[in-house]
Amino acid sequence: MDKKNPGSGYSNWSIALHWFLALALLSQLFLGTIMVDIPKGPESDRAYWFNLHKSVGICLAIFIILRIICRLKYGAPDPLPSMKSWQKLASSLNHKLLYLCMILMPTTGFIGSLYSKYPIKFFGFPIARVVEPNPVIKEITSEIHAISAILFFILITIHIVAALKHLLIDCDEIFQRMMFRNKSKQSN
Ligand code: HEM
Ligand code: HEM
Repeated sequence: MDKKNPGSGYSNWSIALHWFLALALLSQLFLGTIMVDIPKGPESDRAYWFNLHKSVGICLAIFIILRIICRLKYGAPDPLPSMKSWQKLASSLNHKLLYLCMILMPTTGFIGSLYSKYPIKFFGFPIARVVEPNPVIKEITSEIHAISAILFFILITIHIVAALKHLLIDCDEIFQRMMFRNKSKQSN
């Protein structure tokens, strides 16, 4: 059992941040995927969507940091004893890699944008340029950003399929423990 979380569920903060970030990150992934195909040109609204993506991404980074703090403070419940050992391993690996992607996505996006020739405009307000544009760093971080996005999509798909299997086929407690419950039953 995770010693930081003697109860059987996630803390209310962890649950709230999980569902908020699930929705926000999925929207951000779709926005990122769609915006890169918007053609450039004087009439194009490509810059608008890029700036929105960067601004939202910076805000999401704050929520991701909060989520990681919550995870470290409140911990997570143990896997169910009924789960097979490969399932426990797969679930733990999936969660760790999801956290890794949650760290990599905003970090590489931000560093790449910092070294790009275009300024970062946070909801319209330009952020002061602290480094000179560097096409090599920009290229490398953009590549990691794009590869992490693909990994993230794959992990999220596996994660959702597994969650729905627990809810609809196994009918165990896994899905319910990521739902808000009576406060008296919570660990925080
Ligand atoms: C961007 C989308 C998502 C991300 C990044 C994400 C990430 C995570 C992470 C990292 C955990 C482990 C929590 C921890 O140990 O701290 C988790 C747990 C969980 N997630 Fe998600 N999630 C996403 C979307 C979803 C969706 C759409 C569903 C439902 C269909 C879902 C259902 C669950 C459930 C039921 C758990 C609890 C699993 C357990 O207790 O073993 N997640 N999620
Ligand atoms: C918070 C989570 C984030 C997610 C899930 C995300 C997702 C994505 C996705 C899916 C793409 C398309 C990748 C491709 O096909 O090339 C993309 C591109 C991009 N993202 Fe993000 N992003 C995030 C944060 C950020 C942040 C914080 C910034 C900058 C401040 C940023 C800047 C960019 C830029 C400039 C591109 C265009 C391609 C490039 O030049 O790298 N992203 N993002």
